[in-house]
Amino acid sequence: MNYLFVLVVSLAANVAGAPSNIVRNNVYGYSAELSEFYSRVSHYIGEVRQASAVSPTCDTSKITLPAQASELPAPPAGQKVLHVAVGRGTQNYTCADSTANTEPAAIGAVASLYNATCIAANYPALISMAPGVVINIALPTKSSSTLPPANLDLLGHHFFEDSTTPVFNLDTTSERQYGIAISKKKASMNAPSNAVKGQHNAGNGAVAWLYLEAVNGTVGDYKSIYRVNTAGGNPPATCEGMDKTFTVQYSADYYFYG
Ligand SMILES: *[C@@H]1O[C@H](CO)[C@@H](O)[C@H](O)[C@H]1NC(C)=O
Ligand SMILES: *[C@@H]1O[C@H](CO)[C@@H](O)[C@H](O)[C@H]1NC(C)=O
Ligand SMILES: *[C@@H]1O[C@H](CO)[C@@H](O)[C@H](O)[C@H]1NC(C)=O
Repeated sequence: MNYLFVLVVSLAANVAGAPSNIVRNNVYGYSAELSEFYSRVSHYIGEVRQASAVSPTCDTSKITLPAQASELPAPPAGQKVLHVAVGRGTQNYTCADSTANTEPAAIGAVASLYNATCIAANYPALISMAPGVVINIALPTKSSSTLPPANLDLLGHHFFEDSTTPVFNLDTTSERQYGIAISKKKASMNAPSNAVKGQHNAGNGAVAWLYLEAVNGTVGDYKSIYRVNTAGGNPPATCEGMDKTFTVQYSADYYFYG
């Protein structure tokens, strides 16, 4: 069977409330974005069913950043999409004290990255909405090799080498060696005002969309990385009542160019 068919149906089954641990655990709450997501998924199921006689294609040359990313620098000429990943993890913050006079400071993030390249190539609207759904899935453990509900494959791990150096390690097993992108933030823009604010759309808002450049030490062809379609991740405005360090749940799409 066409893997896209399986993927789209499994997304739909879980969102619609078919029996599954995710739904039984009530990870999903009903919300406008889920309802919108489900109506699109239903539409795609029809499309994909019609197309499933033909072999699936995954043409990365068709992949473009979401239109709203136009406030970020465009991908430099000659660079092509290598992978698109959905990331699920936490943004980490620190507070010098727990008063309203202090603001949380970002100290990095940790996330598992899942291969969503072929969704981005075939279903741009689904990839844009994916983080808003994925943020409601339980945090993967470091060894989770697939992401429910669509069982996307683990592509790599995102973490920070120091507080200003995001790393994307795409070497996950001895067979899956896709290199390591070490990067620096070059530009950012506020997430669009309709971005999902956190789990069940409650929280302090979505982290900024970013343009990162690969720096020395990078292994592989990686040149630029975009973080877009963010959901959650923002800290409260002040440190009032917060612990010295804390984490905020987030999800985002990462586009790797090279
Ligand atoms: C961020 O938080 C996660 C989860 O608590 C932790 O595993 C990770 O080491 C933290 N990273 C940083 C840079 O604080
Ligand atoms: C991502 O998934 C697609 C479709 O299954 C596959 O063709 C591609 O090789 C995968 N990429 C990586 C880096 O595993
Ligand atoms: C990266 O390495 C090259 C070659 O060693 C060097 O010329 C360049 O200055 C380095 N760039 C940075 C940003 O460190």
